This record gives sequence, structure tokens and C-alpha cells, in this order.
Amino acid sequence: MGYFQVFLLLALVPGSTGLDNGLLRTPPMGWMAWERFRCDIDCRKDPTNCISEKLFRDMADRLSEDGWRELGYEYVMIDDCWMSMQRGSDGRLQPDPDRFPGGIANLARYIHDRGLKLGIYADMGSATCMGFPGTTLDKVELDAQTFASWGVDYLKFDGCHSNAIEQSIGYPLMSKALNLTGRPIAYSCSLPAYIGGLPPNVNYSYLGNICNLWRNYDDIEDSWASVQSILDWFSTNQDDLQPAAGPGHWNDPDMLIIGNFGLSLDQAQAQMALWAIMAAPLFMSNDLRTLSADARAILQNRVAIGINQDPRGIQGRRLLQELGHIEVYWRPLSHSANALVFLSLRQDMPYLYRNSLANLNFPAGSFEAYDVFSGKTLSGLTDHTIFTVSINPSGVVMWYVYPVTQPPRPPKDTGRYPYLRKKYRMS
Ligand code: GLA
Repeated sequence: MGYFQVFLLLALVPGSTGLDNGLLRTPPMGWMAWERFRCDIDCRKDPTNCISEKLFRDMADRLSEDGWRELGYEYVMIDDCWMSMQRGSDGRLQPDPDRFPGGIANLARYIHDRGLKLGIYADMGSATCMGFPGTTLDKVELDAQTFASWGVDYLKFDGCHSNAIEQSIGYPLMSKALNLTGRPIAYSCSLPAYIGGLPPNVNYSYLGNICNLWRNYDDIEDSWASVQSILDWFSTNQDDLQPAAGPGHWNDPDMLIIGNFGLSLDQAQAQMALWAIMAAPLFMSNDLRTLSADARAILQNRVAIGINQDPRGIQGRRLLQELGHIEVYWRPLSHSANALVFLSLRQDMPYLYRNSLANLNFPAGSFEAYDVFSGKTLSGLTDHTIFTVSINPSGVVMWYVYPVTQPPRPPKDTGRYPYLRKKYRMS
């Protein structure tokens, strides 16, 4: 049986679908351990960075004390390698006792006390990707109950060590089991990433009913090449992926690596800008304890965050790929505003790129453009103005573009007060 048939079959199983938690009306934001801290479990040699309750407490402290929480960064996400190698005698997953001596419920309390939320990781299969206990089909319900009893707010459900049939049963089963706990738990499904990420293997409208978000593609690594390959895959396949996103159900191109070792500042701005365009989750995987002021400024850019979190929840698209290695991305926003990103994939020098809004499908009218990273406003734009932006190599210029309404002209003295009539709905 092929994947597609399995999905069709599952869609017919009564009661197997329907995630009904009302969560993630905008993409989730927070901090996630994996890309930066991986499976470092040697707390004797590396007590500051190993996967332990201390690491998550440290990050919760930073999120709540350094202005992140107020900007929306609220989830603290435990990834792989938190578990003990064995389930408990009651069959339940349990944290490694040396690294999480207080237990997960305690950690959840610590995180909740700081106005934050806790996410955890499990794997649909016989073992997690790093070989810790997996969630086989018979354990789905028990694990959902366990997470709910600990006060978990988000589950990342990975898909290592399972076959297509198990996955196609296990992901909707977990969705249902999370619902049944009665606790609102956001649900991230890694399924698409394990079956090629595209239709017909993946049925995105079905997935949107059972998951709040899903990993579609490869894991991010700490390099510009990795960011570029992810962006390129999502853009090449945007006709399949872009319509799948919306309030409550998002594509996930993986974590933000801003503040680590692999990106220049221009590349870091580029990742922030493009993840905002893609309505991607904003999960930072970095060390918030030692973050540079430059990285912080990019990650805390209010307008970039506002674009990411736009309530319409429409994922943006790549509009143009110019021969000169300039690309233009666009996302429609609330209040007739739009975000534009001009990305340079050149490797020479800042490039002067010329275009007009009309050429980027804008309607006729007058506009202003706020440059998200320089903070400057460009006034007096019309749809036909030829503008020029200077884009650094592997960098971006990001604009928040909004229409300028004509100031109301004083009413002509006709004795009929048309403006008053409009304002007060007089007949
Ligand atoms: C997979 C996931 C990653 C991470 C690791 C942990 O590779 O895609 O995001 O969770 O497993 O082992």
C-alpha cells in the first residue's frame, strides 16, 4: 500500500481526525534546544550546556528577564535526549534522573511561574532519533496522558524508527489522544519530513486538521548553506506548501540559528526576514545567556516579529528570481499592508536593485515603505515609482509597505455637509 492510500484510508477511520485545541492562531515563538545543544548529555564534563533541567531553567530565566516573553517568545522547548533510557515500571516515559532530578512537572511549574510554556519531544516509533524510548502505537495514549499530567503545553512528535503505516496511524492517534487529555497542547508533527514533504505523499489539508504545525523538510544546521537550501526548497515548492498554512496550522522550516556561529549579521537578518515572510515558527536555537547585542537586536525586531505574527496568517511567497541572483519575496498583511524582502544571493558587493511596486503586483496608489532593519521610512512612493534598494551580499532589505490614504479634503460648501453625513450615517 502506498502512502497516499494509507492517508485516504485513515481519513475514513471515524474519530481519527480533528485537532480541536484552538492554539497557535499565529506561528509559535520561543526557544528550542536542538540545533544549538543537540544531544550533549555529559553533565560532568559540560554542566553548563548539557541537556538538563538547569539548561531549560537558564533559558526560561533569560526569556522572562531579557524582554523576550513580552515580544511573544513564550515556549521553552525540550528536544531529544531528555529521557531515561528505560520507561518506568508503570510503563511511562521518565526523564533522566541525574539530569532532571526535579522531574518534568517541577520544571513545567518553574516555566509557568515565569509566564512561559513548556514544550517536550517524543518520537512516533520504536526509539527517538538519538535512541531514547520511542512512542509505539500502544503507548500513544499513555504518553499523551503523561505529558498532560506534567503540565506540558506543546509536543514535538518526531518520526524516526517507524514505517509509513505506523506513522499514518500514529500521528492522528496522538492528535486524538492529546485532545482527550482536555489540556490544550500544541501539536507539531514531523511526519511530512519523513515522507518527502510533498503531495501526493503528504495530504496537507488532512494534516491541517490533525496538527498545529509540521516539519516539512531537512533539519537546519548552523550555516548559510543550510538556510539557503531550506529557503530554496520551500520556495520551489510554494504552490503546494503556501496554501497549507493558516491560523492554527503552519509549515515549519525549522529553527532560527541567529546568534550562533554560522551566519554573518547580514545572513542573520536574512533568516529573520524570510522566516517572517514564510509565517514560520520563530524558535531560536541559540545560547540566550551569551547572545551578542547584534543578534538580539535582529531577533527582537518588533516589525519583523509583527510581520511574522500577522493575524491574517497568510504565508508569503517568492515572487521573482532575477538573473542577477536577486530574489523578491512578498507577504500580504492586515490593514492592506504588505511585507517585501529583497534578497541578494550574490557574492560580490552591495547591489543596487531597481524595481517598481506595480511590477510586484501592487495596485495603483500611494505608499510608504518602512525599512525594517534600518528604521528609515521611504515616503512618496507610488505604484509606478522606480525605487532602488542597496542589498548586501547574502543579505536582505525588508520593507513593510502600507498604502497612504489621501488626507480628507475640506468639504465644498454645498450646504449639504457630505462628510458629516458619511461620518454619522445620516441619510
Ligand atoms: C530529528 C528532528 C530534529 C531533532 C532531532 C533529535 O532529526 O528533525 O529537529 O529533533 O531529530 O534527535
